[in-house]
Amino acid sequence: MSNIGDLQSFANSITAVTSPLRGYLNELHQKYSSLNDGTVADYIPELALAKPEWFGVCVVTTDGQIFEAGDCDQLFTIQSISKAFVFGLALEDHGREYVNSKVSVEPTGEAFNSIVLDEATNRPYNPMVNAGAIATADLIKGENGTERLKRLLEMFKRYTGRDHDINVPVFLSEKATGYRNRAMAYLMLNFGMVSDKIDETLDLYFQQCSILVNAKDLAMLSATLANGGINPVTQERAIAEQYVQDVISVMLTCGMYDASGEWTYRVGLPAKSGVGGGITAVAPGKLGIGTFSPLLDAKGNSARGIKVCEDLSRDFGLHLFNVAKPERVLADWISGGNGVDDW
Ligand code: DON
Repeated sequence: MSNIGDLQSFANSITAVTSPLRGYLNELHQKYSSLNDGTVADYIPELALAKPEWFGVCVVTTDGQIFEAGDCDQLFTIQSISKAFVFGLALEDHGREYVNSKVSVEPTGEAFNSIVLDEATNRPYNPMVNAGAIATADLIKGENGTERLKRLLEMFKRYTGRDHDINVPVFLSEKATGYRNRAMAYLMLNFGMVSDKIDETLDLYFQQCSILVNAKDLAMLSATLANGGINPVTQERAIAEQYVQDVISVMLTCGMYDASGEWTYRVGLPAKSGVGGGITAVAPGKLGIGTFSPLLDAKGNSARGIKVCEDLSRDFGLHLFNVAKPERVLADWISGGNGVDDW
């Protein structure tokens, strides 16, 4: 052990092994392994290769403890989950006012790929639907496509603490078949909502969707937001503190697409899903949840992931608006003690 940080992470790894939360997560994983509702995304052949049985659940606390159950190292494409984090970088690049002049923050109640803009302002409705995500990608600064992508990858590294690759076949397929996204980009160009670097920006959007992550990365992404923008393990700042609230607000109202209302009602945590099968959910000040199961429901959200988040929220009283005593006190389940709930 060379320093205090190493000692702390060693202590955390011991707790994570002995903690009752581990058993809880294993049981949760077991409980929903047999849920076979939903289908694997197949709009491009590469996504259809995902195995329906893949299933991982990871929780990372804001003090850097990591709890895993199931396939937490299996890589998959981040897809729409990237949208929340790219929105954060656009805010850092331009500030709130300018970004909001290009992308609204209003839920649509429409599918993620709907071709719809706010009639009064011509803005896409929010950064989580495809149109809004393309307008957001347009805002990412950089001399050229390579530099802009590099900035995105560096940002994801700050959140997760590790390097990320692009799944090139997924990127090329998205690029070759993304006519609908291309149509939206040109519609927004027509209204002056995006710059004329359409091809470069669409490439960036398809590349950001093709970044490879695992369930642990997703938990680390949300734990970093839960921790005010600082990765709880590496202690590196991933996003300026002032924009964390912006990102997680839009995740709460728009992150689960046209299921966002139902999600907020049942789970009550800011979250973002992707058609690769991932969900990342933020319990501010407490923890991040990352789930991976490629079986998607009709709205494009991971069916098992939703169930896992519902259980975690209910059992530990994580719902943002919960005022009742939770069935389980999170701090006790993490430490195995009977300590006071200081969460
Ligand atoms: O733009 C698309 O269609 C995909 N690359 C990303 C979509 C996505 O993950 C939407 N989610 N559920």
